[in-house]
Amino acid sequence: MKILVLNGPNINMLGIREPDIYGRETYDGLVEKIKSHCKAKGLDVEFYQSNHEGSLVDKIQAAYGSFDGIVINPAAYTHTSVALLDALKAVSIPAVEVHISEVDRREDFRQVSYVRAACIATISGHGTDGYLEAIDLLAERGGAK
Ligand code: DQA
Repeated sequence: MKILVLNGPNINMLGIREPDIYGRETYDGLVEKIKSHCKAKGLDVEFYQSNHEGSLVDKIQAAYGSFDGIVINPAAYTHTSVALLDALKAVSIPAVEVHISEVDRREDFRQVSYVRAACIATISGHGTDGYLEAIDLLAERGGAK
């Protein structure tokens, strides 16, 4: 099973940006943590982070036919992007939405998620462990050992 882990704008600033909200783990640290989790589970994983909406759309489109699951933290685009929603719907690859912080307990503008309608689940407020939970969900669904 092959999983794509997509991260949106400012996730590359993990460890520096608002550590009280997002913690002290860096993006590189997150990637390593996910890699070792996937290795232990026998899953293939690839990573992509971009600050640009269109680049994320391109990556989702390119995943068609080559990935079995997508873990996506669209970051700020969660709350604005019909384009990411449409891209996820277009490829219909099972996707799980992840947020490091508990978005539903934050500002009103974070209560809206466009991508949620194209995802099989949302994991929010579990810190970076949420990515691992999302991978486990996809693996269970995909029948991976
Ligand atoms: C986030 C929450 C979003 O509201 C925010 O814009 C982010 C990160 C999270 O992981 O908690 O950049 O997706």
